[in-house]
Amino acid sequence: MINSKIAGIGFYVPEQVVTNQDLMKVMDTTDEWIQERSGIKERRYGKKHEETPTTMGANAARIACERAGIKPEEIDFIVFATLSPDYYFPGCGVLLQRELGISHKEMGAIDIRNQCSGFIYSLSVADQFIKSGMYKNILVVGSEMHSMGLDFTTRGRNVAVLFGDGAGAVVLQPTTEEGKGILTTHLHSDGTYAEELALISPGSHGGYHLGKEKFGFPEALYGEIFVYENLIENKTYYPNMNGQLVFKTAVTKFPEVIMEALNKVGMKPTDIDLLVPHQANLRIAQFVQKTLGLPDDKVYNNIMKYGNTTAASIPIALCEAWEAGKVKDGDLVCLAAFGSGFTWGSALIRW
Ligand code: ACO
Repeated sequence: MINSKIAGIGFYVPEQVVTNQDLMKVMDTTDEWIQERSGIKERRYGKKHEETPTTMGANAARIACERAGIKPEEIDFIVFATLSPDYYFPGCGVLLQRELGISHKEMGAIDIRNQCSGFIYSLSVADQFIKSGMYKNILVVGSEMHSMGLDFTTRGRNVAVLFGDGAGAVVLQPTTEEGKGILTTHLHSDGTYAEELALISPGSHGGYHLGKEKFGFPEALYGEIFVYENLIENKTYYPNMNGQLVFKTAVTKFPEVIMEALNKVGMKPTDIDLLVPHQANLRIAQFVQKTLGLPDDKVYNNIMKYGNTTAASIPIALCEAWEAGKVKDGDLVCLAAFGSGFTWGSALIRW
């Protein structure tokens, strides 16, 4: 029986540290508000015009490849998760192939657009390709450059203070070692609340979902509907979030999807050696920890330093935990995420 194992892992965060005090200079917010609601003290922002989700992903990927003992050229498939891609199209997967200097064309690359649960979805997709025997070295990357697209005025403060930039990557390889590797993955979605955490313009919706009056589209040409004049005026190119709905749904779905994974393999929360939840909000992670009855040393959080890095948060946190010696051979590691879509998921890994 073939399972997928994480053969190498790496992460990269940009140098520039942006504290809550820095944000207080540009918007009406306080360190106290941010820390009390989210646990965040600081986050990193990439270098403008120099760093992108692709370049940051490449930095993380090089470390993951080195630790897996392979050269980027040996990668046969890339799965790239991001909500803040370099281009609207093509996706970051092909840009990463170029950035890593992979010249052979036998490989494939896809982008996964599942926001906060993007890394779990990507891991699950890659896992199926390894289990089927189709690929041997899959690079799974989560990378985000949120700083380029946030509203840094008081109007956007509920979203802007939460997010940071960074990237994480793993190399997945097949293993035949009994009971090791990715044991199970679980993916869910509910499109009912699609617009409650979303960046809806520019896009091809033409006002279909929310009524065209809301957007103030011109009646004229098709081309003016994708990127329309009022987009700038209404600032609909910034993310919109119903924070309380996200919070309430997240604290239900996280424990649910973790229990689903544990039940699938006949285990209990006490069997988990380390839970690495998507770093959406420290309060959400603490709620989940309490619901599952896990002690502090079995949950890894680093949102305090990096903010919410969406698709990158799990591989960054997992890599940091591994580097700190908190993930050991034979440990049961649980990954779980919830976010925009809504989509959510979990993965159980025997390290
Ligand atoms: N600084 C100061 N005040 C603020 C800020 C800020 N940065 N942001 C909002 N406020 C104000 C609001 O304007 C509001 O003021 P009012 O009472 O005068 O109207 C007040 O604070 C309370 O606002 P709420 O939105 O009700 O605050 P809440 O307690 O819900 O906390 C938060 C907001 C932190 C966003 C919370 O709802 C949350 O964490 N939700 C989950 C969000 C999340 O996890 N998102 C990411 C997951 S998905 C992904 O990663 C893509």
